[in-house]
Amino acid sequence: MYVLGVWDGHDAGAALIDGDKIVYAANEERFTRRKLEMKFPFNSIMGALAYANIKPTDIEHVAFSTTELTKTTERVFPYMREYYYLFRRRKIPQPRFENFRHNLKYTLTPIGILPLCNTISASYIARNLRHMGFRNFKLHRVEHHVAHAATAAFTAPFRKGLIITLDGLGDGLSGSISVLENGELDRRLKIKAKDSLGIFFEQVTNIVGMRELEDEGKVMAMADYSYPFDYESNKFKDFFRVEGTVLRAIHSPVKQFAMLRRAAWQMPREQFAYMAQQVLENTMVKLISNATDRYSIGDVAFAGGIFANVKANMRVRRLETVKHWYVFPHMGDGGIAMGAALWAAHELTGSSSFQFDAYLGHDYSEDETESIVKADRQFTSAREDRSEQAKHAAELINEGNYVLWFQGRMEYGPRALGNRSILAPSSSEAVKDKLNMYVKKREWFQPFAPSLLESDAGVLLEYDDKGADRYMTMTYIVRPGMYDVTRSVVNVDHSARPQMVEGENKLYMELLKSVKRHTGHGIVLNTSFNLHGYPIVMNPADALKVMKETGTKHMFINGITVTNRKGI
Ligand SMILES: [Fe+2]
Repeated sequence: MYVLGVWDGHDAGAALIDGDKIVYAANEERFTRRKLEMKFPFNSIMGALAYANIKPTDIEHVAFSTTELTKTTERVFPYMREYYYLFRRRKIPQPRFENFRHNLKYTLTPIGILPLCNTISASYIARNLRHMGFRNFKLHRVEHHVAHAATAAFTAPFRKGLIITLDGLGDGLSGSISVLENGELDRRLKIKAKDSLGIFFEQVTNIVGMRELEDEGKVMAMADYSYPFDYESNKFKDFFRVEGTVLRAIHSPVKQFAMLRRAAWQMPREQFAYMAQQVLENTMVKLISNATDRYSIGDVAFAGGIFANVKANMRVRRLETVKHWYVFPHMGDGGIAMGAALWAAHELTGSSSFQFDAYLGHDYSEDETESIVKADRQFTSAREDRSEQAKHAAELINEGNYVLWFQGRMEYGPRALGNRSILAPSSSEAVKDKLNMYVKKREWFQPFAPSLLESDAGVLLEYDDKGADRYMTMTYIVRPGMYDVTRSVVNVDHSARPQMVEGENKLYMELLKSVKRHTGHGIVLNTSFNLHGYPIVMNPADALKVMKETGTKHMFINGITVTNRKGI
């Protein structure tokens, strides 16, 4: 029995489940090449069907999520959604009535689910599916935070735990606390949209001149460059109150924005970012600490966009009451299609545990890849056994080069995890600068992250036994003796956001082991395989385009070793 999950909002996408197996999941941005695409995910749905080799009529259950007033309005008037997308991504100039739009948005978005909106949204989703050839399917509506919670609960490595969601907002809520026990997910507490930590950080991002819903990670990174100061002197420390497990925002989102903007005028951007990050971390730590105490549960799983904040996650992990943790790797709204499908599958079959790995997207055969490579005379290519490619790539990395690494199924979620990655030595400042100059063009304060062998995590990092981080979901402090090894992947505060690699990606593990044979440590710089401002590459044609535009010399792609004649 197939269950298809569909999400048509920020970072739209689709996920396909068969029984308790997650068959496929991808986001629309990879197909349309527009980062965090918001349109109905026609391409992702077709991708899922093609991967599973089934027809639309084979799908009996479709799950979708989020029927709040503003989401429903966007479904009825899609040009509003497109306008917001273009505006948010700075593709069109700021309109004169921006203040009015901003205040209207934060007044209307906290309004939750209205019965009429359920009907209108369901009919919009069904109409699009019928247009694609779907027939006789049952439509399941899943509330936004139930979908987030399902991703964390049903893919977590433990069967009893506390499930906490925190985000901007969805269906009138900005968070929830549930208990997973005996295969059931029991919601104990809701956090209203008006009390949102996500809206707070979204507004801070906007005020420092960055793109809300996209650049929050940059704000977090910039905060590292402020001079530290005492929490008591933080002007925003009273913006939130935590009493037990109740989180309250003191001001409405509109008033909060006005206050933040006034304060930001009087201080450097990095200080403003630091203060906001401090409020976010301290509030999260207090809330989660109180929740683990109240329910006496130390195994905690998280989802929702707030948990993209890897620094705050590190603080949470350090809590004594947190014994084991898990962050669903596609924690933001990009994971909602998967959450809706998981919840519907859980309700239909009773299953509460679905085997998850991050490699859920498209794959391309060696023949297919080779024919695309050979069509362009700028490249020379040769077939090479993939194990040999791992060794060959490791040699080039150890010699100080960066390489493009494209193997197997595309990763699901925001991070490149060794299948669509750009890899470089972790110890070289020079290669980091080269990457930034020619390929990534990142803000100067944005760090790169490492992939490392899980067996080396304790040697390189202040690592505990609370759970391995396979998906780069939080930072760890690098051990003092390891600064030279991690020069290109460490933040100014000596933290790093690692992917710990074990058996789930054998080829990538081979590469790391080959690096280790030369250097003594199984660690590389791993950054996503994309052009600045674009989504991670999906297919070989996308990969060749990046290689060409960045003048990169070496690429290892599905058993084909490619050299760029014009590479530098
Ligand atoms: Fe969300």
